[in-house]
Amino acid sequence: MSKGLFITFEGIDGCGKSTQLELLKEDFRKEGLDFIEVREPGGTAVGEKIRNILLDRQNDSMTRMAELLLFEAARAQITEEVIIPALMSGKHVICDRFYDSTSAYQGYANKMGRDLTDFLNVKATSGVSPDLTFLLDIDPKTACDRRTGRGGEEDRIELMGLSYQEKVREGYIELSREEDKRIRVIDATMTREKIYSEIRKQVWDLMS
Ligand code: TYD
Repeated sequence: MSKGLFITFEGIDGCGKSTQLELLKEDFRKEGLDFIEVREPGGTAVGEKIRNILLDRQNDSMTRMAELLLFEAARAQITEEVIIPALMSGKHVICDRFYDSTSAYQGYANKMGRDLTDFLNVKATSGVSPDLTFLLDIDPKTACDRRTGRGGEEDRIELMGLSYQEKVREGYIELSREEDKRIRVIDATMTREKIYSEIRKQVWDLMS
């Protein structure tokens, strides 16, 4: 049995990942492909509890190191409990965020340092890496307007504001230059149909 494909979606808050992920899932279903969908942080019973701690607005005293380790703890859990077994059994895995988020948000924007985040990312994932990552690139102001349009309360990380999101975006762009084979940058200001047709083409190219 061949190993499944591991596809991840990345980008700043409000970049439109979820919509694209839904479209890809719909196509996978139509094609009868065997896959699972997961999200980070979360995706397991333990991980969802960690997610609540991480996003809770009341936890404004959380230190940057505590935050980093909690993201990695949730990742270690989902990788061992869900992602590795699925890939090994031949299922494709579509994941809303993975370790690139930690590199961009904690490593770059929070200045925890890429040496540290790279080290922890490898430890938490046992070296498992996505086959393909879509980085939906958008300016923070447009992304913020989209989020406002969606309604709902901002979580602890969204509350950090536009300049923080700008740093995260810079971090992502730096990552995409380092790993230009795996990370495909997509202009997320295009229509959802145009964005998806690029994504679909790249996924199907990889599968064939
Ligand atoms: P979520 O509601 O899932 O946001 P989104 O829909 O934008 O993915 O919240 C996850 C938040 O956690 C988001 O602001 C990004 C942040 N995050 C990190 O800072 N580091 C990480 O390693 C991960 C996985 C997420």
